[in-house]
Amino acid sequence: MRILLTGKNGQLGRCFQDVLTGTDHALFAYGSAELNIADAQQVAEVVQQVKPDIIVNAAAYTTVDKAETDSGNAYLVNATGPELLAKQAADLDIPFVHVSTDYVFDGEAVEPYLPTDETNPQGVYGASKLAGERAVKAACEKYIILRTAWVFSEYGNNFVKTMVRLARERDALSVVADQYGCPTYAGDLAKAILHICEQHEHDKPLVWGTYHYCGDTPTSWHGFARAIFAKAEVLGVIDKRPQLKAISSDQYPTPAKRPEYSVMKDENLSLLGITPSDWFAGLRSVLNRI
Ligand SMILES: NC(=O)c1ccc[n+]([C@@H]2O[C@H](COP(=O)([O-])OP(=O)(O)OC[C@H]3O[C@@H](n4cnc5c(N)ncnc54)[C@H](OP(=O)(O)O)[C@@H]3O)[C@@H](O)[C@H]2O)c1
Repeated sequence: MRILLTGKNGQLGRCFQDVLTGTDHALFAYGSAELNIADAQQVAEVVQQVKPDIIVNAAAYTTVDKAETDSGNAYLVNATGPELLAKQAADLDIPFVHVSTDYVFDGEAVEPYLPTDETNPQGVYGASKLAGERAVKAACEKYIILRTAWVFSEYGNNFVKTMVRLARERDALSVVADQYGCPTYAGDLAKAILHICEQHEHDKPLVWGTYHYCGDTPTSWHGFARAIFAKAEVLGVIDKRPQLKAISSDQYPTPAKRPEYSVMKDENLSLLGITPSDWFAGLRSVLNRI
């Protein structure tokens, strides 16, 4: 099938290209230099030229703190872009797969968020992603929105790579222990999206809507760091584990407020034939590659 991918240079975009290797799908992949998703004319031209069977949007404005002072651009990429792509998908009557975030929630919950739970973003990034979700729903019927969280991979900048670098440089580290979420391996998310594409290719019915796709085991950033160091030491990626101190969010202020609790779950993932990310396994494969 013909798959149009945006955001090809990002974590998810690169993992998606990896999972397509060896398949017979025709992938048309674009970075921001070739296709600015917020440019209506470019989007229309590329879609009309490619004539895809499905569109996968892995492009996003993801610098959460910068978004606080750059909201115009955050909304262009996270809301206008998805809307333009979704409109093209609607015109061609093809599915649109879009990725959103746990930051659409306020983090005040005490049990895992479900896709039907009320949203209440706390910062510009989350608000712009929520605006994107709403625009997609309004623009097309055949959409799958996958909300994900704490994405890591062998590519780009992410928490796993930062922790490994810091462990090589320092003897001791302080990591926030009062924010909880679900780490997600971008390679698993990529495989899940490919599965959705193939369900469509084989005319299997897809239940359009919003889903939560993230790691199967919640943890804190501190717990995630501990898991990274333990595995990295066993695999010989670092010589020794640094001392790990638990700190509170107050001790690590950031321009954008982080949700305290953004654990998500979704019992409906089986409707798409996919299962949550086994992030421990993903962590092992990332550490083996960096
Ligand atoms: N990273 C996380 O922890 C996290 C958590 C929750 C949800 N998510 C969501 O998961 C998805 C994938 O995230 P990721 O970590 O793979 O992101 P990423 O590594 O930051 O990649 C995003 C890509 O978007 C592209 N992009 C930015 N502006 C663009 C524009 N105007 N037109 C076209 N492309 C543009 C960039 O392309 P170029 O490099 O070519 O400029 C970049 O490579 C996003 O929807 C994100 O919001 C991520």
